[in-house]
Amino acid sequence: SRELPPYYQPWMDIAQHVTELIYSHTLRSHILKMPLLNTRFLESHRELRLAHLALSVMTMGYVWQEGENDTVKILPRNLAVPYWKVSQRLGLPPILTHADAVLANWKKRDPHGPFDIENLELLVTLPGGDSVRGFFMVTLLVELAAVPAIKSIPLVINGVQCGDAETVTSALEEISQAMEGMTDALKLMHAYVKPDVFYGIIRIYLSGWKDNSSMPAGLVYEGIQAEPMEYSGGSAAQSSLLHCFDELLGVKHEDNCGAFLTRMRNYMPSSHKHLIQDISLQPSLRGFVQQEASELLTAAFQLCVTKLMALRSYHINVVSCFITVPAARARQLRRQGNSSQQETVSRAPTALEETGTGGSGIMSFLKTVRDRTRDVSLPLD
Ligand code: ALA
Repeated sequence: SRELPPYYQPWMDIAQHVTELIYSHTLRSHILKMPLLNTRFLESHRELRLAHLALSVMTMGYVWQEGENDTVKILPRNLAVPYWKVSQRLGLPPILTHADAVLANWKKRDPHGPFDIENLELLVTLPGGDSVRGFFMVTLLVELAAVPAIKSIPLVINGVQCGDAETVTSALEEISQAMEGMTDALKLMHAYVKPDVFYGIIRIYLSGWKDNSSMPAGLVYEGIQAEPMEYSGGSAAQSSLLHCFDELLGVKHEDNCGAFLTRMRNYMPSSHKHLIQDISLQPSLRGFVQQEASELLTAAFQLCVTKLMALRSYHINVVSCFITVPAARARQLRRQGNSSQQETVSRAPTALEETGTGGSGIMSFLKTVRDRTRDVSLPLD
C-alpha cells in the first residue's frame, strides 16, 4: 500500500520527512507533539505493513537522532502505543526490520514500467541519500532474483515425496540458477552504495537496542510496560530466503549462530516463518539424493550447495568492503587524532565496528554460517 487513510496523515507527515527532521535535530520534538492515534482504522495487511514501516523509521530516527552518545530511554506513548498494536497484529517486533525497510518500502515510478532499479523508489527513507536508497533497493533485487527458487521448493518437496528424481533434479537446477542470480544482484551494491556513507551514516539507523553497547538497557515503550524491552536491529538474517534454502538442503547451524538465526525468524512476517517451518518438517532431501545415487541428481544438489556457498562468500566480501575497511580507516583516524565530523567514516558509532546492526559478531558469524553450508556437500567421486 502506498497510502494510509487520511486520519493517519500526522504519522505520514513526519515519516516522509524523517531525514530532514533528523538533520535539523527536530524529529524528537515533532514526535512528542504528535497526536495519539487509534489503530483500528487500519484494515488491510498492506495498510498495516505501511503503518509499521512509517512508525519504524520514526522510531529509529527518534532513538538515534543525536548519534550513539545521546540516546533515549523511553519511546513516547503516542508513538509506542500504536507501534506496539500494529506490531502485534502483524506478528512483527516493534523495530525496523528487513520486512519493513526492504520488502514493504518500494513503489514503481512509472506504474506500467519495468521492475528495475531505475524505475523504483522508496516510500520512506533515512539519512544516507542515494546510498540508503541503493542499499534497500539492491537488497530488494536480491529478493526478486530468488523468486524462481522459492517457487521451485514445492516441486522439490513433491518430487521427493513421489520418488521422482527427474523433477527434483530440474527443480534443483532452477534453484541453483536463481542463487547465482542473487549473487549477481548483490554485486550491484558496489555500484549503488558508497562504503563511507553506509558505514559512517546509514548503519546507526538500522541498529537496535539489544546486544548494543550504546543502548545497554533497552528501550521503554511508554504505555505498554514500565520495564525496558530489547530488540535487535536489522539484519540480512531476517530475510526468509537463506533460511528456506538451509532447511531444504539440510544445513544445520549450531551454538550462537544457530540461536541468532532462530531468533531472527521472529523478526519476519509470520507467513515467512511458517513457510520455513513447513520446509523443515519435510523428509530429508539430502537423504533422498544419497539414496537415489543418481549422478545428475547428486550434481544438481551439489550445485545448490556450491552456489549457496558462493552467495555467502560474496556477502562476506560485501561486508569487508562496506564495514571492515571503513572501520579500519575510522580507527586509524582516531589513532592519529584527526578524526573529525568532516570525515564521513568518523561519524560512525564505535559500537558497530565489529558488530552487525543485528547484533551478531558479523565476520565470524558469516564465516561460520558459510562453513556449515559446506558440511552438507555431496561431492561426486
Ligand atoms: N547488518 C548490516 C550491518 O551490519 C546491515 O551493517
